[in-house]
Amino acid sequence: MALHIGSIAPDFEQDSTEGTIRFHQWLADSWGVLFSHPADFTPVCTTELGRVAKLKPEFEKRKTKVIALSVDTGASHKNWIGDIEETQSARINFPILADADRKVSKLYDMIHPEANDTLTVRSVFIIDPKKKVRLIITYPASTGRNFDEILRVIDSLQLTEYHSVATPVDWKNGDPVVIVPSLKDPDILRQKFPKGWRELKPYLRLTPQPDR
Ligand code: BEZ
Repeated sequence: MALHIGSIAPDFEQDSTEGTIRFHQWLADSWGVLFSHPADFTPVCTTELGRVAKLKPEFEKRKTKVIALSVDTGASHKNWIGDIEETQSARINFPILADADRKVSKLYDMIHPEANDTLTVRSVFIIDPKKKVRLIITYPASTGRNFDEILRVIDSLQLTEYHSVATPVDWKNGDPVVIVPSLKDPDILRQKFPKGWRELKPYLRLTPQPDR
């Protein structure tokens, strides 16, 4: 079955650079980012993994665990990590799934045969603490992802989840946000948004970012 936003992220058990991972158990009550790489010893992936390692504190601030996947063996990943650390000046501080049998790649539809029969595209899944898929993005193998954007989406999802606001076009952390249209009760509005809001239309109400 196709995976959609709102689907439960499929559970799996797979080898990784940090031993066997039982995915749901490994996620526990954290948010998660699962992202795939076409193969080991490829240039774009090497830069991406270094960047994610450097951003680990930012993911931790958002109670989010990161896990990569590449369709090679754990032994190959460990050799590749040496290159990543040497060229990107970053220590790999998260697991890389060793999906040589493509079990997880197939479960998450990360292989797009029209692009390549055996290698994964660059997929990203953001998963919430209830194990629901909250974002799916697919990049071509030749384009490195923007992990600042992935952090931005996590911020937006968490604002919606915990503060009943959505984020408008080109929103950046600290910008005004919009109150979700389903929230109409004036008492709840005053309680949730003590800094007030500006109503441009009944469905378009701007308020300062509530967690700041
Ligand atoms: C890569 O680094 O994974 C890559 C680079 C160019 C084309 C396809 C993949």
